[in-house]
Amino acid sequence: MILIEQLKWRYATKRFDPNRKLTHEQLHTILEAVNLSASSLGLQPYRIFVVEDSEVRKDLRLAARNQSQVTDASHIFVFAVKTNLSAADVAEFVRRVSQKRGIPLEELAEYQNRLISSVESRSIENRTAWAARQAYIALGFLLVTCAVENIDACPMEGFSPEEFDRILGLTEKGLTAVVMAAVGFRSSGDKYQYMAKVRHEISDLYSFV
Ligand SMILES: Cc1cc2nc3c(=O)[nH]c(=O)nc-3n(C[C@H](O)[C@H](O)[C@H](O)COP(=O)(O)O)c2cc1C
Repeated sequence: MILIEQLKWRYATKRFDPNRKLTHEQLHTILEAVNLSASSLGLQPYRIFVVEDSEVRKDLRLAARNQSQVTDASHIFVFAVKTNLSAADVAEFVRRVSQKRGIPLEELAEYQNRLISSVESRSIENRTAWAARQAYIALGFLLVTCAVENIDACPMEGFSPEEFDRILGLTEKGLTAVVMAAVGFRSSGDKYQYMAKVRHEISDLYSFV
C-alpha cells in the first residue's frame, strides 16, 4: 500500500539539505492540505506562521535549543493557538458557514448559541489547551501530506513558546506558539533516516472490543 510505504519512508528529519527548497506547488499542496484538517466544531482555533525569512529563523533557532532544522529546512511552520477564543470567533465562523452554504444568518442563530455555549463552558486555560489539540491534528495532516508527497518534515516542540511569541509578535495578536514543523528535504548525511522505526507491536497498541 503506497500510504504505508510512504509513512515508513518518513522520519523526523534532524538534518535538512539547506540547498533544497520546496517548489511553489509543493508549498501550496501543504497549505491546502493543512487547511483541510478536521477541528472540533470546525473552528480551526489556530493560525500558522510559515517562516521563510532567514534572519527571523536565526532568532527562532536560538529559541529552539539551537536545532539546525530551524534554519536549514526549506520552510518552518509555527502553529499558534488563540489564547482568547471567544463568542466573537464563533460568530465569525458562523458568518462563514452562512456565506459558504447559502444559509441566512438568522437560521443559524440557535446553532451559533450552541457553539458559543460549548466554547464558554470551558475555562480560558482549558480553551487554549483544547485549541492546541486542534493544532496538533493539523500538524498530523502536515506530516502525512509531506510523507505522501516525498517531502521531509520534523515535528518540533523543543522550543520556548515565550521566545517564539516575542520573535513572531504573537502575543499582541492573541496567539501563542504550541508546536512547529520544519519542512524540506533530508540531507544524505542524516543518520536517522537509516534507523529502524521503533513502534509498538500492532497487538500491543490495539484492543478490539
Ligand atoms: C509533538 C512532537 C514534538 C517533537 N519535538 C521534536 C523536537 O523538538 N526535535 C526533534 O528533533 N524531534 C522532535 N520530535 C520528533 C520525535 O522525536 C519523533 O517523531 C519520534 O522519535 C519518532 O520518530 P520518527 O518520527 O522518526 O518515526 C517531535 C515529535 C512530535 C510528535
